[in-house]
Amino acid sequence: MNRKDFIFSVGKGVLIACSGSCLLASCSSSDDGMGDTGGNPGSGGNEGSGTRVNLAISDIPNVGDQKRVNSVLFIRIATGNTADAFIATEAVCPHQGGQLVFKGAQNIIECQLHFATYELDGDTVQGPQNSAGSTRDLKIYATTLNDTTLTATVS
Ligand code: FES
Repeated sequence: MNRKDFIFSVGKGVLIACSGSCLLASCSSSDDGMGDTGGNPGSGGNEGSGTRVNLAISDIPNVGDQKRVNSVLFIRIATGNTADAFIATEAVCPHQGGQLVFKGAQNIIECQLHFATYELDGDTVQGPQNSAGSTRDLKIYATTLNDTTLTATVS
């Protein structure tokens, strides 16, 4: 490779690297993957150490009600309008992304893909059925209640 070819190839590399980082920078500033789903207060955005995801408690008025907002599954586990009447956890299974559903009769969270089950504190009860691999305990997110808005802090 002669000097001119070398300078040209280095210049191309710098241009590609710059373009890539500029694209990544524009993506990260506009999309945190936790956008609002509409119809409720939705995502509260980033503040402090986690992303806040909001839900109007009128969306889950009865014990056993559940609602998915972005990556969070909110579940009402008790009557009353205090933060400890609700839990917030991952909306999809850590094994292979199956949808998680609260089963009130058994008081468990169950994956609808391979039927792993979890306690309400996130502990794994049963691993994936008829599928390779294992799962992990669910993350339980801290919740706060401000008037009628329940907020989970996803960390
Ligand atoms: S995706 Fe949930 S157990 Fe496999």
